[in-house]
Amino acid sequence: MADLSIDFCGIKSPNPFWLASAPPTDKAYNVVRAFDAGWGGVVWKTLGEDPPAVNVSSRYSAHYGKNREVIGFNNIELITDRSLEINLREITAVKQAWPDRAMIVSLMLPCEEAPWAAILPLVEATGADGIELNFGCPHGMPERGMGAAVGQVPDYVRMVTAWCKKHTRLPVIVKLTPNITDVRAPARAALAGGADAVSLINTINSITHLDLDNMVAFPAVGNASTHGGYCGAAVKPIALNMVAEIARDPATAGLPISGIGGIGNWRDAAEFIALGAGSVQVCTAAMLHGFRIVEEMKDGLARWMDGKGYANIAAFSRKAVPNTTDWKYLDMNFQTIAHIDQDKCIACGKCFVACEDTSHQAIGRSVLENGARRYEVLRDACVGCNLCEITCPVDTCITMVPQETGKPTMNWTQDPRNPHAETRPLLTVVGAAAAVETA
Ligand SMILES: Cc1cc2nc3c(=O)[nH]c(=O)nc-3n(C[C@H](O)[C@H](O)[C@H](O)COP(=O)(O)O)c2cc1C
Ligand code: SF4
Ligand code: SF4
Repeated sequence: MADLSIDFCGIKSPNPFWLASAPPTDKAYNVVRAFDAGWGGVVWKTLGEDPPAVNVSSRYSAHYGKNREVIGFNNIELITDRSLEINLREITAVKQAWPDRAMIVSLMLPCEEAPWAAILPLVEATGADGIELNFGCPHGMPERGMGAAVGQVPDYVRMVTAWCKKHTRLPVIVKLTPNITDVRAPARAALAGGADAVSLINTINSITHLDLDNMVAFPAVGNASTHGGYCGAAVKPIALNMVAEIARDPATAGLPISGIGGIGNWRDAAEFIALGAGSVQVCTAAMLHGFRIVEEMKDGLARWMDGKGYANIAAFSRKAVPNTTDWKYLDMNFQTIAHIDQDKCIACGKCFVACEDTSHQAIGRSVLENGARRYEVLRDACVGCNLCEITCPVDTCITMVPQETGKPTMNWTQDPRNPHAETRPLLTVVGAAAAVETA
């Protein structure tokens, strides 16, 4: 069986699945049951200065799909609402009882050195394995100059990270906010401040929906609301991209990344790891389905790794990074064409409507002698956009088939149709793109 254990910037864990800093990790009662269920580690709910934060009622809202499945989750909670003393006591006891699990303590304090210098020895004394700096919370705390208010200013990220490195010997993980134009800037700043790793993403500014009778957004606190932080399945594509951006940035190459955002099963986790993550963190999926989801995650990941011949996590970690590149390095001569499996087609016509109205009018519709409709791809008109394959309700009924064009690989920087092809200087090229470039 594949070895799921990891060493993440010196933090050892029996598997890469950690619970993210949030309600699942806000007290010993939860964390003990999470460890019992098999989670490899936790990032304890963010600690701050006393007096503890005070929360409002209500706190959560959701973006639902048609069958009321939760697509995205939104919250306006603050950091821990329990005292520092209680949290530190519980962290100490849990770490003592579960020495093999990763215990990371999340922290958020004002942008002054003294409070950081004061709290770090207290956290170290708990026996915790590392700290995570919450520079990402986008609601409530930024109004007080913390959370995303720090994460959005790379100079602050560097400064506070450096204070932490000065006052603790524990590994420092910097948790980044996605509410920023270019996530590479704070990642580079974290590295410049001495960070041992980054984690991302924290939640995205959001309003999920409105109560149109009372003209107030959810979650409503009486007759008013505020923007919250969005997470859950809907944010996975944003998080994956941001992880990849940092993983393939030469300035942060090799910086360990803990991937967070919409992870709900082993496959999500494998994708984050392949795109650069060394560990993964989960919040919403555990809040919606309970701690036992980790069983499927561990089992599924190990089975998939066995099937692929990956003996350990490092064997496939970052394997998709070299294949993630800038648009200009994609092969202009690659061609794929849609194919409809007539045995699977239920003649619903969705692909026809999609391609006819909004793509390339590349699906033909005919009526057979028995009155049945038949849909066929017009190969010469198909540009291989994938829209019909995405629209089709029948799994694998439409497949995209790569074509043998006989043409050499050629990217946009080499393409004669590019008016700047010959004059434009090439930018830094990494990974697979470099191979294409020099081919
Ligand atoms: C109710 C709730 C409270 C959260 N509290 C914290 C927190 O105290 N500190 C923190 O760093 N992140 C906090 N987060 C963000 C999560 O740790 C995580 O970054 C985010 O939810 C994305 O992961 P997910 O899609 O698996 O939920 C919170 C999220 C939720 C839903
Ligand atoms: S891949 Fe795009 S262009 Fe081709 S048939 Fe489908 S929708 Fe039309
Ligand atoms: S969407 Fe799929 S099932 Fe429906 S007509 Fe097109 S190929 Fe057939």
